[in-house]
Amino acid sequence: MERLVPGLRWPEEMVARSRSQPRRFAPELFGRLPSRYDLLSLVLSFGQDRRWRGAAVDRVEAGPESLVLDVATGPAGVALAVAGTTGARVVGVDVTEGMVRQGRFNVARRGGSDRVQLLVGRGEQLPFADGTFDALTFSYLLRYVADPEATLAELARVVRAGGTISSLEFLRPACPLWWALWWVYTRAVLPVAGGILGGRAWYEVGRFLGPSITEHDRRYPLGWMQEAWRRAGITEVGARPMSLGGGLVMWGRKAPGPGPHG
Ligand SMILES: C[S@@+](CC[C@H](N)C(=O)[O-])C[C@H]1O[C@@H](n2cnc3c(N)ncnc32)[C@H](O)[C@@H]1O
Repeated sequence: MERLVPGLRWPEEMVARSRSQPRRFAPELFGRLPSRYDLLSLVLSFGQDRRWRGAAVDRVEAGPESLVLDVATGPAGVALAVAGTTGARVVGVDVTEGMVRQGRFNVARRGGSDRVQLLVGRGEQLPFADGTFDALTFSYLLRYVADPEATLAELARVVRAGGTISSLEFLRPACPLWWALWWVYTRAVLPVAGGILGGRAWYEVGRFLGPSITEHDRRYPLGWMQEAWRRAGITEVGARPMSLGGGLVMWGRKAPGPGPHG
């Protein structure tokens, strides 16, 4: 992990690295966050993070016989929510070993080990056969991959035809007033509050997050993202901005037929 360097360009350099060196960047960034991740995410999002997760999980169609995949599972919050809500078995995949360790701890503590299994792996290259899963969830993933379109195709590949896909991501509010407040929050309040509550690692993440969300939204706006989902072989694509446009829940259904892989 780069040390903090003075100068306003630092967060933008981090954003550039998140795209150019994704294999190293995400494990370095998230490797220092697992133990306080759930608590700080809740506090720093004023509790909205939990609402957004609930909205994404509500889109999962699964039952006790189903097998669901949760990619970028982190400390397993979404995976546990899916298992708890649907009774399905859930496989969680995350690229950061420390997150998977924390996730396994959380799963065991919540008595979910018989239904939730976590693995280290990358969303860009999943170790599963085509159509393995009845449903898929992923959250806060696409800002950390070099090619979101190729990653979407890989995610859709492992879902059976008709299976649901739902996701969660941050968004830049469209309304100028909310955007201005969001800008002040992400550029000034979030790094400072993160640093006070979580120390240096959270200060650095706090500085990175706003520019990362802005850059992702600029390169891959909602319309582009919806088309990319369709090109990945996903139908019935829907999107719901959350909390005045600070979050985005997207969902769809794996199309019948061979899909983009032929
Ligand atoms: C912001 S956390 C979200 C964790 C969890 N989904 C949640 O909502 O609490 C993003 C997670 O994505 C993981 N991640 C980043 N790039 C990834 C990739 N290419 N494949 C799999 N996981 C990735 C990180 O390790 C991190 O745990």
